[in-house]
Amino acid sequence: MSFRPQPAPPDRPNRCQLFGPGSRPAIFAKMAASAADVVNLDLEDSVAPDDKPAARANVIAATREIDWGRMCLSVRINGLDTPWWYRDVVDLLEQAGDRLDQIMIPKVGCAADVYAVDALVTAVERATGRTRPIGFEVIIESAAGIAHVEEIAAASPRLRAMSLGAADFAASMGMQTTGIGGTQENYYMLHDGAKHWADPWHWAQAAIVAACRTHGLLPVDGPYGDFSDDEGFRAQARRSATLGMVGKWAIHPKQVALANEVFSPSAAQLSEAREILAAMEAAKARGEGATVYKGRLVDIASIRQAEVILRQAEMIGAA
Ligand code: COA
Ligand code: MG
Repeated sequence: MSFRPQPAPPDRPNRCQLFGPGSRPAIFAKMAASAADVVNLDLEDSVAPDDKPAARANVIAATREIDWGRMCLSVRINGLDTPWWYRDVVDLLEQAGDRLDQIMIPKVGCAADVYAVDALVTAVERATGRTRPIGFEVIIESAAGIAHVEEIAAASPRLRAMSLGAADFAASMGMQTTGIGGTQENYYMLHDGAKHWADPWHWAQAAIVAACRTHGLLPVDGPYGDFSDDEGFRAQARRSATLGMVGKWAIHPKQVALANEVFSPSAAQLSEAREILAAMEAAKARGEGATVYKGRLVDIASIRQAEVILRQAEMIGAA
């Protein structure tokens, strides 16, 4: 380890973030009744420009009136290039209930974007005497966002999580894609005449995970647009989980169970993690730092890997 220890991320499950347009208050209670760990009420791109003020009022009322249970309650504000974002922040911070946990800042391109929102939020919190500081989560969904991902992750002590937003990211990068996330038809290698599809999101995800882990944030995979394609969602989510992401967005309620399934350690993963720890305990008793488990090497790094899985299970109450 570096002399500077890796900070722990927020100690809460974040397997699924369920989104819903702020202009559609009829679904808010359904969102609250879902099994998502995080609910994101949206003021940004799922709300038409004329509906922005009404959506803001709906969302503020929902923070006060709906029982959000154990969920993390987050509101996505409009981007800093719009005329709406400052009013989103001021009205939310002045009028939303204390139940509001986080605001999500979309299309962040540099640390100064986060700094600007932090300054405004801090002023309103001081003016209103709010005692529990609002957390931030950001979306990396532009060329500038990924180019500055590490400085963004370090930009504010309010930061809790960072998501990859595949659709806006692809647009900003000029990628020849239309679907939101997942396999892209033209992104393949040829071997012996056969196509092998690769993952165009991989490098951006890995960069986000590294920035998040360096600064103690939760790395999250964004939306998978085709909500009729369960296997496509699972495949994308499994790749994200393998890379270190802790959860994924749901843009339709049917995706919540899929995300929870993929980002919860399975019984088999849990028992293997426990067996590895037991094998390492036995090795330690023999004065050894490495041993053999099911024909493969396990060592002190394997303890850390197994502990990641056990910690995830503990957080969701499955350990
Ligand atoms: N959260 C909770 N419940 C939802 C929901 C959501 N995001 N979206 C739909 N539902 C409910 C519907 O009200 C319906 O409930 P009912 O069975 O009681 O009638 C049920 O789930 C099935 O909905 P369905 O008819 O399949 O979907 P729809 O046509 O009503 O809505 C979308 C589909 C994609 C438009 C809608 O899910 C949506 O707006 N998703 C979020 C979009 C968003 O926020 N995007 C921004 C982030 S990328
Ligand atoms: Mg977006």
